[in-house]
Amino acid sequence: MSVTVLVGTQWGDEGKGKIIDVLTEKVDIVVRYQGGNNAGHTVEIGDKKHILHLIPSGILRAGVMCVIGNGVVVDPAVLLAEIANLKKNNIEVKNRLFISDTAHVILPYHRLLDKLEEGLKGVKKIGTTGRGIGPCYVDKYARKGIRMADLISPDIFGTKIKERVAEINSLVSMRYSQDRIDAGEIISEYLKYGAVLKDMIKPVYIMLNDAVSQNKKILCEGAQGTLLDVDHGTYPYVTSSSATAGGACTGTGIGPSKIKSVVGVMKTYITRVGEGPFPTELDEHMGEVIRKKGGEFGATTGRPRRCGWFDAVIGRYAVRLNAIDKIAFTKLDVLDELEEIKVCTSYKYKGKKLADFPAVLEILEQCEPVYETFAGWKTKTSDCKKFRDLPGQAKKYLKKLSELVGSRAWIVSVGADRAQTFFID
Ligand code: GDP
Ligand code: IMO
Ligand code: MG
Repeated sequence: MSVTVLVGTQWGDEGKGKIIDVLTEKVDIVVRYQGGNNAGHTVEIGDKKHILHLIPSGILRAGVMCVIGNGVVVDPAVLLAEIANLKKNNIEVKNRLFISDTAHVILPYHRLLDKLEEGLKGVKKIGTTGRGIGPCYVDKYARKGIRMADLISPDIFGTKIKERVAEINSLVSMRYSQDRIDAGEIISEYLKYGAVLKDMIKPVYIMLNDAVSQNKKILCEGAQGTLLDVDHGTYPYVTSSSATAGGACTGTGIGPSKIKSVVGVMKTYITRVGEGPFPTELDEHMGEVIRKKGGEFGATTGRPRRCGWFDAVIGRYAVRLNAIDKIAFTKLDVLDELEEIKVCTSYKYKGKKLADFPAVLEILEQCEPVYETFAGWKTKTSDCKKFRDLPGQAKKYLKKLSELVGSRAWIVSVGADRAQTFFID
């Protein structure tokens, strides 16, 4: 039995795509378990940069099978564009990519509602990616969603779309002054997508559980991160799915007793896109220094990412919530030129030390980070091939992060390329 879950430990963009790609060298199947094309997972191989939004990052390794699990919300047009783009790069998905028949479909009215809702919220907006993710999950939990299985059954699809569009039209005309949505247009457009995707749509949980029985290696690819999880994140400034490790079970149909290991991807500083509290956020100048060196711009929306010092309170929270037993520390090279580096070791709230990450947003907003300051190593790390090649201060920094968050450093990433990665035995 060898099922590993890989999760983001912060607010996303920790470098999950890169680490998935590294790990897939020794994996049979990669399965995405939640989120949708709000994700942007970057993999750099030589001079080629791939950004994947829906298809698991394992697709870049020949022979690896990729699965989009039931917990994912699928925008079929985006999926087809991604498949076409891979084809242009000579990467074939035929017989390698499968989509759960119970994954929900993102429809044009979800994208519309996402934008309208954000507009209504004004200053309280979440800063969503505008991809219709939230409204699609709302429909799923309201039991009004359309699933991939429906997309390949023209009669069922037509009936369900007509019913839902009638409801949506009465909602949008009441709440927003918005043109009516045409159900017929959606039906004809989406049935075409269904026809192209038909052979990939399956009850994938059967395939996955068979693979578990055959002792195949499965990697569950998390999107977003622990603090964007709908239950455990900085609610309401979160996404609408279960990004934490538990989501891997519900989002794939692989039961909890089959999970062997959880890898947490931790950037050696921290970033956030969109709105919401961020205790260690840097001032404009330092934020810009890190943003520039780290290329911290959204892989999906291109928005500048907010940057901050590493937050060990968040790290500890993520290790505990996800039962992380191994950490992949990423983007160490981004800190190479800094004179000094700070790490938040705890929070102070109203003069008192807080033991745990607070659930209440209004408390988090008032938390002051308590910092420990490290001397920078001022040495290039991007050519290091082993832990022992790292400058002394960088080793000390990583050891301290690992100790503070309470889990083992397993992988260190010192550059965007596949090759700029090493394992710690
Ligand atoms: P993901 O959403 O967690 O997969 O992360 P993103 O792909 O959105 O953002 C991570 C960015 O950092 C991408 O541009 C990666 O190519 C890049 N990256 C990943 N690891 C490293 C690293 O160790 N060093 C540097 N400099 N860049 C990295
Ligand atoms: P990856 O997988 C970073 C953020 C959005 C917004 C909030 C809700 O690349 O790490 P949504 O469109 O999901 O309703 O937006 O979540 N967000 C991400 N931030 N990385 C991501 O994915 C994200 N996916 C969503 O910016 O704040
Ligand atoms: Mg990303």
